[in-house]
Amino acid sequence: MCGIVAYVGTKQCQNLLLEGLKRLEYRGYDSAGIATLENGRIRVVKTVGRVANLEDKLEEVGGVTGTMGMCHTRWATHGGVTTPNAHPHTDDKSGICLIHNGIIENYASLKTLLEEKGHRFVSQTDTEVLAMLIGELYEGDLEAAVQAALREVTGAYGIVVMCEKEPGVLVAARKGSPLMVGVGDGEHLVASDGSALISHTSRAFALEDYQVVKLTAEGFRTSTIHNVPVTPKVQQLEIELESIELGGYSHFMQKEIFEQPKSLRNTFRGRFVVEEGRVILGGLADHAKDLTKARRVVMLGQGTALHAAMIGRYLMEDLAKVPAVAEFASEFRYRNPIIEEGTVAIAVSQSGETADTLAALSEAQDRGALALGVINVVGSTMARQTDAGVYLRVGPEIGVASTKAFVGQVAVLSMIAMWMGRRRYMGASECGDLLRALEQIPSHIERILATDAQIRRVTEKYVDRENWLFLGRGYNYPTALEGALKLKEISYIHAEGMPAAEMKHGPIALINEGMPAVFIANKGRQYEKVMSNIQEVRARGGHVIAVATEGDESIRNYAEDVLFVPDIPEALSPMTTIVPLQLMAYHAAVLRGHDVDKPRNLAKSVTVE
Ligand code: F6R
Repeated sequence: MCGIVAYVGTKQCQNLLLEGLKRLEYRGYDSAGIATLENGRIRVVKTVGRVANLEDKLEEVGGVTGTMGMCHTRWATHGGVTTPNAHPHTDDKSGICLIHNGIIENYASLKTLLEEKGHRFVSQTDTEVLAMLIGELYEGDLEAAVQAALREVTGAYGIVVMCEKEPGVLVAARKGSPLMVGVGDGEHLVASDGSALISHTSRAFALEDYQVVKLTAEGFRTSTIHNVPVTPKVQQLEIELESIELGGYSHFMQKEIFEQPKSLRNTFRGRFVVEEGRVILGGLADHAKDLTKARRVVMLGQGTALHAAMIGRYLMEDLAKVPAVAEFASEFRYRNPIIEEGTVAIAVSQSGETADTLAALSEAQDRGALALGVINVVGSTMARQTDAGVYLRVGPEIGVASTKAFVGQVAVLSMIAMWMGRRRYMGASECGDLLRALEQIPSHIERILATDAQIRRVTEKYVDRENWLFLGRGYNYPTALEGALKLKEISYIHAEGMPAAEMKHGPIALINEGMPAVFIANKGRQYEKVMSNIQEVRARGGHVIAVATEGDESIRNYAEDVLFVPDIPEALSPMTTIVPLQLMAYHAAVLRGHDVDKPRNLAKSVTVE
């Protein structure tokens, strides 16, 4: 959730740290700070607000110098958004300086102990407690002090630490919060995400839980918190610079919406043969037998990923004919879930780092489930924890509001359902027909994107309304939830998504004159029923915006505005019906003057509970 970048080498590091931090700003952006070792002393500059505010502050104070340093962009957990609470945190007595992503759960008891020993705290954060603890345990060896402190700590951390008394040494460690180590020529870097490393080196390794790395310009040593040496696997980072740059778009969210045809083609590449009605998912091959005999599928996720999982549930039941549920990972992990023999748990996640989804997956695995991942970030914690899986291949998603990952998740779940279906009940021609339709979806999305100007005009009509409804049935009930989530998270308009039939059971009381109600009303099994629900809303003064199937001209009699999507099989339709809703949310946020890529209170990748 927080962005971390650190450097040790021979170059002046202020600007390269800031450049890396800007790439990570989507991970958290309520305050930012930098520290370097300047002439043997740690120099910290920090401020509330964005990285741009930090740049202004650095200009005011004449910048910082040094060839070793660290910087951080924060998403507040413990303690409000204030400059003292911003990272880095220091322990002046020992000369320790630290940045942290995660939560130290036993910070309160540690703080009491440290206060008894005379430490005085200037922030309300759990992070400062860790800085003081390392300082308290420091006896001339930073690596050993970090290891000792982390043995006392419960919770999650990705940390980088330096000490005035050990110039040229950075120590980083991880449990629960991802950290990548970049291996350069005469320099080393640490970052919470590979995108901050790529302009310096493409050789990197991920730290594992409970691992500590000691870095100098020349080399590194990796061990556990119990000081057992480990040998990491240095790999090639596969991130293209253009995929993490705006490239002419105004916002990453806009870029990622428009990228969907291309990203979806990547998701599909080499994964099916239409003529043979065959799906080829190499990541599942080793578990083909267990998956064929699966008795139940439990899909786990949060937010947008959960909405994709909910669509996955319909796909599993319809195409694979296997009982399926989709659950909030955060609820599943604390229930006493019953996992019977033959259960397959599928973690759906863009980042592969969401704390609740990870914990729910472990819970399911501990109870005997086979664990699959439908994940975007290659090598992420979740991807490494699963038994098998299928990557989304949609490229880095920078916009905080997830768009292309959602469509990728639904696409992968539909392929998994067909893959299982073919091994269970589905014939080659039935599967071939569906695959033919699936293959066409990128072109269909291109057609929808071409109607962007119309979608913007419709959004303009309603953008001043404070309450919206999103309604759908069947496969497009989760689409309605996702449309509402998109609108609320970036435009701060109150929006409710629900099954259209649920209206009569209470929420219809909300409808008043002119309230926008977005209906996903494409052709499908429940089309007539959706039409009745539309009438009910209109009869009470609601204004209907319908997402409808091309050619359905009669729907104009029932809706104030119609956004058309191509005619495709209902089971695959959420991949197209969501696109106008993504664009509406985007335009609403822009029209209201909000920062689309950095919505208030949010951050990409929720690595805390
Ligand atoms: C909303 C959004 C979130 C994420 C959720 C899970 O636009 O992005 O709701 O979908 O936090 O994140 P991942 O997919 O990384 O597990």
